[in-house]
Amino acid sequence: MDTPVLLAPMEDVSNLPFRLIAKQTANPGMMFTEFVSAMAVHYQAKKTWRKMRVDPGERPLGIQIFGAEPDVMAETARVAEEAGADVVDINMGCWVPKVCRTGSGAALLKDPDLAERIVAAVVAAVRVPVTVKVRAGWDYSLFAAPELAKRFQGVGAQMITLHARFAKQGFEGQADWDLLKRMREAVTVPFVGNGDVKEPEDALRMLRETGVDGVMVGRAAISDPWRLARITAAVTGQPTPPIPTIYERVEMAKRHMRLMVGYQLGLDDLTRLPDNIDPIEELAALRALRAQLPLYIKGEPGAAALRGKLTVAESMKDIEALLDGFLLSAAVTA
Ligand SMILES: Cc1cc2nc3c(=O)[nH]c(=O)nc-3n(C[C@H](O)[C@H](O)[C@H](O)COP(=O)(O)O)c2cc1C
Repeated sequence: MDTPVLLAPMEDVSNLPFRLIAKQTANPGMMFTEFVSAMAVHYQAKKTWRKMRVDPGERPLGIQIFGAEPDVMAETARVAEEAGADVVDINMGCWVPKVCRTGSGAALLKDPDLAERIVAAVVAAVRVPVTVKVRAGWDYSLFAAPELAKRFQGVGAQMITLHARFAKQGFEGQADWDLLKRMREAVTVPFVGNGDVKEPEDALRMLRETGVDGVMVGRAAISDPWRLARITAAVTGQPTPPIPTIYERVEMAKRHMRLMVGYQLGLDDLTRLPDNIDPIEELAALRALRAQLPLYIKGEPGAAALRGKLTVAESMKDIEALLDGFLLSAAVTA
């Protein structure tokens, strides 16, 4: 990987439209899909297939999978490889009850033998590299990640990412980068740090202070691909790209919305929307983007007032009109 900045897997966020925008704006070293349930793939859930859609322009791409059964995980890894994954990533970081109840995600941190068997089964099932994303451990009582990472490396994992929080923490508190430092010596494969990288300086500091080989960025890139671009530029020693204007932000919000509708419709070319769009599909796409759209203009005067309207708008036309009106008032008050 030439650029040691990775875009994090994020459920309901890291779908194809989001990744295309991130790729074109920031060109991170690697991106990941949102996690894909191995059980859902096993039972052929239609919505799940879409999550594994890969565009040739977004490589290298990791498809992240989660599950608790080695066989089913191996089968899903093969499906992911066939779908075009350059890497299959195993999720051992998700802390939410609906996932952990099934023994998947971060629950595997409590069962090292099973966790290792899953990694070994997935490695044996595919030709592409297999990577694992972990949290530090289940709760503060045991920093399990270094020992686990060693075992995963032993059975063939080719990269480990640590989100430097314990599962029980959810997203509380600060990520503890000291854990990255303490874990660094556990593995010789590339080791990626994750947690609270918000600005270019954070990425540089994480690289400098912890010895990680790469930084993974999640929330800071949501509705802000330019921030990811600034982080990428800093890490690769390129000049800092300019802060986007409000016009650029609004244009990107519109673009994201259109791509999302194209994605929902399952178009080959997401940018070529037909004249007649099924309003139910259109609404489904807008709902999926509901939380992200207002973030494109967050912090601008009048953005808070617009937020509610954007969230309930039911058509692209309405959203475009709202955003255009917003730009107009920005121009008037400028
Ligand atoms: C909305 C959201 C969805 C997430 N979904 C996933 C996921 O599907 N798989 C995963 O490994 N981590 C997931 N995460 C965790 C992120 O990948 C990352 O580890 C975490 O946000 C910390 O990084 P950050 O501080 O840069 O955001 C998610 C995080 C958020 C905010």
